[in-house]
Amino acid sequence: MALTIEEMAVFCKKKGFVFPNSEIYGGMAGFFDYGPLGVELKNNLKQAWWNYHVKRRDDIVGIDGAIIASPKVWVASGHVGGFSDILVECKKCHARERADVLIEDKLKISADGMKLDEIESLIAKNKIVCPKCKGEFAEPSKFNLMFQTYVGPKQSEENIAYLRPETAQLIFTNFKNILDTSRVKLPFGIAQVGKAFRNEIAPRNFLFRCREFEQMEIEYFVHPDKLKECSYVNEVMNCELLTYSAEMQEKNLEPKKYKVKELLDKKIVKLSWHAYWLATEYNFFINLGVNPEHIRIRQHKKSELAHYASDCWDLEYKFPFGWKELQGIADRSDFDLQQHIKHSGKDLSWFDEEGKKKVVPFVIAEPSLGVDRSFLLFMFESYHDDKERGNIVLKLPNPLTPYYCAVFPLVKNKEEVAKLAEKVYKELKGCYTCMYDESGSVGRRYARADEIGVKYCVTIDFDSLDDKAVTIRDRDTTKQIRVPITELKSKLYELFLK
Ligand code: GAP
Repeated sequence: MALTIEEMAVFCKKKGFVFPNSEIYGGMAGFFDYGPLGVELKNNLKQAWWNYHVKRRDDIVGIDGAIIASPKVWVASGHVGGFSDILVECKKCHARERADVLIEDKLKISADGMKLDEIESLIAKNKIVCPKCKGEFAEPSKFNLMFQTYVGPKQSEENIAYLRPETAQLIFTNFKNILDTSRVKLPFGIAQVGKAFRNEIAPRNFLFRCREFEQMEIEYFVHPDKLKECSYVNEVMNCELLTYSAEMQEKNLEPKKYKVKELLDKKIVKLSWHAYWLATEYNFFINLGVNPEHIRIRQHKKSELAHYASDCWDLEYKFPFGWKELQGIADRSDFDLQQHIKHSGKDLSWFDEEGKKKVVPFVIAEPSLGVDRSFLLFMFESYHDDKERGNIVLKLPNPLTPYYCAVFPLVKNKEEVAKLAEKVYKELKGCYTCMYDESGSVGRRYARADEIGVKYCVTIDFDSLDDKAVTIRDRDTTKQIRVPITELKSKLYELFLK
């Protein structure tokens, strides 16, 4: 993990994972384009998330909502009124900075959730000046992060619309449609993966804070009378989480490991549904091989809570620039459904057959994960500078790697070897993500494959013509095994599951 974020951005560009947007025109801050390898990794990541959260479960269904919705949605959700960051503008060069980020940089303290007057007095007291020209800052002000556009041919006030700043609201606005068309019963969740847009004041740290990004979100609805009855919490009671509660932060204590059972017994996490989702989300990453020491849960302090949240824990990852939010897991109570009931006048309740009454469900946990931040996590976790080999080895987990295997014909100018290699390649390509490489020395080919995360290289040599066998070389250990061609596909499958 010695690599800096800037070095990672260079690596991602060099290998075709991620490119800066509009580069030939000088770039566009906060926007990125995924290249041939990046799009594969990103799609695999979204698929792995969907399999884990939707496909393998019976209690979660999916939707794919539109990016633009009626502006009334964003008034009801509170985003038009309150989705803002505090900015400060330099009186001299007019550079605009996000106030909390500026304070964090200069004073090394968290300014998340600070009010306008607190920010103003901190800046004055510590004589913080513009990092670009050393000019004085004007009074801080609020800046709404929503991207605005017009729908239809008339660019007037009544045609204003917004690009969604989170996918979540489409889940709430479709709540009734899903109740009416799917056979869901409380408790159940609705999942969505898609783009979100925020006009960030200071996009920074490569994919970490962009203006266009993707989210993978779930709203998990529970019966308001059964908030304490999590049907699945026993599955995760022994899961151990590095924990940093609001109280620990306030008392300047170090984060500590607790099992879910202890978190609940000691009332560090209040509701079992919340604890269940914290552990479930943590396990998503651990199952994909992420080092448990690199992930922790951190509770928001009261001042940090979003307008909709009554409690919130983040899953944080140890990025090279510090422990940072990877995923928010907020308790949104019935805030959103109630807001939409109030603003639309529609009935968004669920009929409880047992209790014979209508109830408005609560969202005790909204696991909301950024695709781009997770992508970055997997790049950092996988990146190894192997001094012995003299090349980078990208140890991506099997379900995520853009190419699971590669086929190399080892002997040049020998038609039979090339023919056999092509045949093997075509067969593998039907089952696995597979690439073919015949150029350069075998050492170069291994190095190229290592650098983009190919897990197994299959080489076909002279002997393959006689013994009808090939060599499989493992990316992480470089160990080689000889396997009959007839057993190659099943062997690779066996190795995939390991
Ligand atoms: N629906 C709740 C919600 O949107 P959030 O904490 O604002 O909560 C959830 O965002 C996740 O989306 C974050 O944990 C992060 O992974 C990702 N995210 C948010 N803003 C982002 C940005 N500007 N760039 C990249 N990812 C971002």
